[in-house]
Amino acid sequence: RPRVLSGIQPTSDSFHLGNYLGAVRQWVALQDEFEAFYFIPDMHAITVPYEPKVLAERTRLSVAQLLAVGVDAERSTIYVQSHIPEIAQLTWVLSCITGFGEASRMTQFKDKSAKQGVDAAGVGLFTYPILMAADILAFDVDQVPVGEDQRQHLELTRDLAQRFNSRYGPVLKVPAAYIVKEFAKIYDLQNPTAKMSKSAESDRGLINLLDEPKKSAKKIRSAVTDTDTVVRFDPETKPGVSNLLTIQSALSGTPVEVLVDKYAGKGYGDLKVDTADVLTEFVTPLRGRVAEYMENPEYLDEVLARGAQRARAIASTTLAAVYDKVGFLATG
Ligand code: TYM
Repeated sequence: RPRVLSGIQPTSDSFHLGNYLGAVRQWVALQDEFEAFYFIPDMHAITVPYEPKVLAERTRLSVAQLLAVGVDAERSTIYVQSHIPEIAQLTWVLSCITGFGEASRMTQFKDKSAKQGVDAAGVGLFTYPILMAADILAFDVDQVPVGEDQRQHLELTRDLAQRFNSRYGPVLKVPAAYIVKEFAKIYDLQNPTAKMSKSAESDRGLINLLDEPKKSAKKIRSAVTDTDTVVRFDPETKPGVSNLLTIQSALSGTPVEVLVDKYAGKGYGDLKVDTADVLTEFVTPLRGRVAEYMENPEYLDEVLARGAQRARAIASTTLAAVYDKVGFLATG
């Protein structure tokens, strides 16, 4: 079976709706057709200021959320990045074939370092995309399901794989980005031309899956729309309304066109109330399942131990081939 791999950072207590609709929902669907690897990139999470005391807890919470949305620990390999030392080892080799200028062109570094001031930003934030390339290339991956904001990192990953292969010989599989256009960018409810993000200045436009449903419903009811009154799907001129339609359609399984017909002659109020209801129905049982998993940390740790074992077996094979090609002397 072809292989799929992706990760979600443990930088918040909860996945947000963009993470879920843009990426994690696809992960669940892809488990059937693919041999799946899903992981928590805790090493990426320390590239920005953070609280060490909460990182481990958020890592467990992330695993609990993956299981709660339907990632199946029997079929998929679930692990934590820092448990696979081969990833960091491969990162070094890849960093030696990455151009400084090439790394400097990564827009995420520009955005995130601007937030802290470039001088305050760590070098780890700069080399972040190389670590991400190693995450992927260590596992001979075919498809990487991500949102639109990761596209540039995937391009770099492909470039590095091709460069390594042409310089040292064919070892690394060149992966493809798996991006579902309709859901690749879910927008901030208050600022519907910006992507929904946990690092937005205000969290009023951010839907966290684990928040009180009432709080999220309220955020949806106060979503920014436009001065028109007709419910139509047109992301260019009606970004707020189109975003709500996308969200409701994704969570209810009703095609956008069917929703648009349903709201003919009705106003934005109905669209908002229904979208809030659909979200509430989705998150209420999800929150319960996450709470149950969190009451059983031994089980979560067992899932991760199994995952690390399977993942390391693969990553160490890739690393050995890479070390051999670059001319490192084998250990006796
Ligand atoms: P992260 O943790 O920021 O986000 C996890 C996933 O959610 C997607 N996403 C969105 N999709 C649609 N609309 C949005 N508003 C939105 N916001 C976030 C992201 O595109 C991502 O797919 N660098 C990665 C984590 C990573 C990774 C990897 C991914 C590390 N190593 C290897 C794939 C393969 C990141 O920061 O995602």
